[in-house]
Amino acid sequence: MVNYKDLGLVNTREMFKKAVAGGYAIPAFNFNTMEQMQAIVQAAVETKSPVIMQVSKGARNYANATILRYMAQGAVEYAKELGCAHPEIVLHLDHGDSFELCKNCVDMGFSSVMIDGSALPYEENIALTKQVVEYAHQYDVTVEAELGVLAGVEDEVSSEESHYTKPEEVIDFATRTGCDSLAISIGTSHGAYKFKPEQCTVDPKTGRLVPPPLAFDVLHEVEKKLPGFPIVLHGSSSVPQDEVDTINKFGGALKAAVGIPEEQLREAAKSAVCKINIDSDSRLAMTAAVRKVFAEKPAEFDPRKYLGPARDSMKKLYEHKILNVLGSNDKLAQ
Ligand code: G3H
Ligand code: 13P
Ligand code: ZN
Repeated sequence: MVNYKDLGLVNTREMFKKAVAGGYAIPAFNFNTMEQMQAIVQAAVETKSPVIMQVSKGARNYANATILRYMAQGAVEYAKELGCAHPEIVLHLDHGDSFELCKNCVDMGFSSVMIDGSALPYEENIALTKQVVEYAHQYDVTVEAELGVLAGVEDEVSSEESHYTKPEEVIDFATRTGCDSLAISIGTSHGAYKFKPEQCTVDPKTGRLVPPPLAFDVLHEVEKKLPGFPIVLHGSSSVPQDEVDTINKFGGALKAAVGIPEEQLREAAKSAVCKINIDSDSRLAMTAAVRKVFAEKPAEFDPRKYLGPARDSMKKLYEHKILNVLGSNDKLAQ
């Protein structure tokens, strides 16, 4: 049993309280590789932002759970080495799908876990979430739950359609489970294809697809029911068109990739939404940078020569999100 406090990590409680009160959101960036971890830490330190580093079940399978945990511990030390005396870094399990997985993460030093029972019937979601909360809270680990289903694939959880969160359920759910934050469904979804072309309009100037707006009415209803309660948005990549264009220019085949417009995320960050999840944008930035090197320098075979630019590009992306979308810069306690 390792307690996250001994690793220099923090849970989300104070972080979320300040974010809700301050009208900004904490970035939750997924990581699977050393380069992503380094880029996240560099960006968070340079912008003086708290940050959530999150690990999915797929990331644990890819990189090994122990290695990722030590990487998070290394992230804290790296942040200090970069000049941040008191980094605020959360190690979070993204889309935990069982009590056992959440318990394993709590036991190995995670400071926050998500139990995603959103695909279960309501009462089963409550029972599973409550079980995780009761275990995690013994160690002061915070718990994110989910109500309402996002379209697309959520690890093992999948659904064809988006089912918005029902505001009339949130008080009962939050009270009975004791969860610390709640992921809601208001029209975001995972991946780089968030909307079908037929759901979008076309911008006559650029020819780009313009997605339908998020359901802010649902978000505001939820806020009214649970004033000040921390709300989480998954599936919040914006799918930057310049990255998509670079990938396609250098041999990729991403067709009609559409994300959430940044102005809508900026608006959400000012509300009770205090955690915004971004994974796909980092994947796009990494892929674009690697493809560019491969295309422009075909004789190159030193991984540092393409993973280095990929790391720089991800760092730029993370800084952009912090500074221009979420507003979490300059929010460290000291
Ligand atoms: O919600 C999904 C996250 O982007 C993690 O994706 O399961 O492919 O690691 P993954
Ligand atoms: P994106 O696929 O939009 O980056 O969403 C990531 C996410 O929600 C991780 O849980
Ligand atoms: Zn998610």
